[in-house]
Amino acid sequence: MTTALITGATAGIGREFAEQLAARGHDLVIVARDESRLAEVRDEITARYQVAVEVLAADLSDRTATERVAQRVSDRERPIDLLVNNAGYGLPGSFLETDIDDEEALLDVLVRAVLVLSHAAAQAMVSRGRGQIINVASVAAYLASGTYSAAKSWVVVFSESLSGQLDGTGVGVSVLAPGFVRTEFHERAAIDVGDREGTLWLDPTMTVQTALDDAGAGKVVSVPGLQYRAIVTLLRHLPRRVIRHPGVVGRQRPR
Ligand SMILES: NC(=O)c1ccc[n+]([C@@H]2O[C@H](COP(=O)([O-])OP(=O)(O)OC[C@H]3O[C@@H](n4cnc5c(N)ncnc54)[C@H](OP(=O)(O)O)[C@@H]3O)[C@@H](O)[C@H]2O)c1
Repeated sequence: MTTALITGATAGIGREFAEQLAARGHDLVIVARDESRLAEVRDEITARYQVAVEVLAADLSDRTATERVAQRVSDRERPIDLLVNNAGYGLPGSFLETDIDDEEALLDVLVRAVLVLSHAAAQAMVSRGRGQIINVASVAAYLASGTYSAAKSWVVVFSESLSGQLDGTGVGVSVLAPGFVRTEFHERAAIDVGDREGTLWLDPTMTVQTALDDAGAGKVVSVPGLQYRAIVTLLRHLPRRVIRHPGVVGRQRPR
């Protein structure tokens, strides 16, 4: 039996990772802040699948809490075979409107936690000669649209770099870059997205299925959906002056 540790496993994409990995027979360690939701997910999954689910409540913007999760990832007695760095959110408002403490907390969750947990996982997994890390970025990584997109660009480059460094060790690294997915993300970030219908909206099931299939096939960058593969190809070939144009990224005006 192998064990997967998933951050942000109580909602959206992370909840779907928990479901699909349990269905594939993995024991789980699920991480998020809300303890009652963690317990609900544990109970739902253990009722449906013959797997063990361990709950680890942690706020990944808090250094001590992140260190606790890193220690669980490093635990040699209870190895983690698959790490999914998924927890994340966006901030409402533009850079001139946000509080700098909120920006730092966002960076800690989107970047620092991914760095610290990947480091712990890579060391433990390489010593065992096997394992897989999946980091969740976004199509926003290919835009120049605020601190969220800058953080997700970091996740893509970091994951590609780590994948190259771990080549031949038996440890795989992949990065999932989805477009719009129907989760709690937009509501939490107070982003008005209307009825969430249309070809640009992905469902979490297919998103996670693609991530797991691509990771299993050794693909480093996973972009679910033909429409988003076309968009990412286009974004990667557009001149940077177009990518950073105020008409694309939105102009910042002082209040
Ligand atoms: N939905 C999209 O359109 C979309 C597109 C591209 C990329 N993504 C990325 O996909 C990932 C998952 O997002 P989602 O759409 O599934 O969002 P979601 O439905 O809002 O779920 C977010 C999860 O992250 C956890 N979380 C949030 N802040 C946390 C913190 N400080 N410490 C620990 N856990 C925390 C939440 O649980 P608690 O609140 O209990 O902590 C929840 O389990 C994120 O990295 C997001 O950036 C989403």
